[in-house]
Amino acid sequence: MSDDRYRLMFDNVPLGYLSLDVDANIIDCNRAFATLLGYGEQELLGCTFASILHDRVEYHRAVSFPEFKRRGEARDIAFTLKHRNGELVHVVMHGKVRYDERGGFIQTHCMVIDVSDKVALERELVRLTTAERQRIGHDLHDGVGQELTGIAFVASALVQRLDRGDAELLSMAETLKASAARAKGLMADVLQGLSRVADVPEGLSVAMARLTDSVPALFGVACHYRELGRVRIEDNLIASNLYLIAHEAIHNALKHSGCAVIEVTLTASKGDLRLEVADDGLGLRSEWEGADGMGLKIMKHRASVLGASLQIHSGDNGVTVCCELPRQPGQEERE
Ligand SMILES: Nc1ncnc2c1ncn2[C@@H]1O[C@H](COP(=O)(O)OP(=O)(O)OP(=O)(O)O)[C@@H](O)[C@H]1O
Ligand SMILES: [Mg+2]
Repeated sequence: MSDDRYRLMFDNVPLGYLSLDVDANIIDCNRAFATLLGYGEQELLGCTFASILHDRVEYHRAVSFPEFKRRGEARDIAFTLKHRNGELVHVVMHGKVRYDERGGFIQTHCMVIDVSDKVALERELVRLTTAERQRIGHDLHDGVGQELTGIAFVASALVQRLDRGDAELLSMAETLKASAARAKGLMADVLQGLSRVADVPEGLSVAMARLTDSVPALFGVACHYRELGRVRIEDNLIASNLYLIAHEAIHNALKHSGCAVIEVTLTASKGDLRLEVADDGLGLRSEWEGADGMGLKIMKHRASVLGASLQIHSGDNGVTVCCELPRQPGQEERE
């Protein structure tokens, strides 16, 4: 096939193509990739990949690109890129490195798939589910909860009235009172499970303090929680998912690491949020990536739904799970 025909095909495939040099400068791209970001192909040549990244620039420079060059291959890597008009474009990339015969780096070949619609749909689904759980919680609390409070009140009054009366009726009234109290307890558990983070700006802080406070008594492991900056989160979708990420990270530390201390830190800075859960346990075993568990996969999915990054560092001093949520365009500084 002639060069022209190759170029024609390359420019017209509905998938983005991107090639980077050893310093992650763009040396080639096709029309689909340039159009995805609102540029002409020529305009992107010579730009650094970092300049079109919306977030995780330092991670790309210091970790993911060097790792890609070393491994020679990368699959399913999610990035958020910046469109010329300021909008965010969510993509997944698959890449291969081309080396010369002595193993020297020549260039990368990367396919870029636009997953913005999928990400938007997933976020909407999670938002709807979160809202639905909250609605059920409110209905239960305000409806069934009020009725149970009434029943418990009448049962207590009955017990008092029958105190010196008919022993059989007294026993029935006491059973009724205990049953109403149990039903209230069960309902509180259901409410707790439905929405663990109250839909108020300080909901996450309260839920995180409650979660970390419960660890020492239940598991005999020290668990410290601190907040840096002023954490106020208006969006319950973000608060609930950050809570569930922290919950899984803490439970993984308790289940797998043999740690003595867990440090949980939530930092708010100029609108960015950063959650860190660090244990001082054994660290990840080498085969953890092939493990059957769902926890880490769900954690990553939650982070991607929020547009956050999730990194897991493991070393001799234990595991640190770090979730970073950059400020979204148009959103005010959260500080
Ligand atoms: N803090 C940690 N310290 C040591 N190993 C860990 C830690 N967190 C996770 N792992 C390892 O990673 C594996 C995968 O974790 P993941 O949460 O996905 O699954 P799981 O906890 O085994 O099961 P599930 O979360 O589905 O109940 C674990 O089986 C464990 O080997
Ligand atoms: Mg787990």
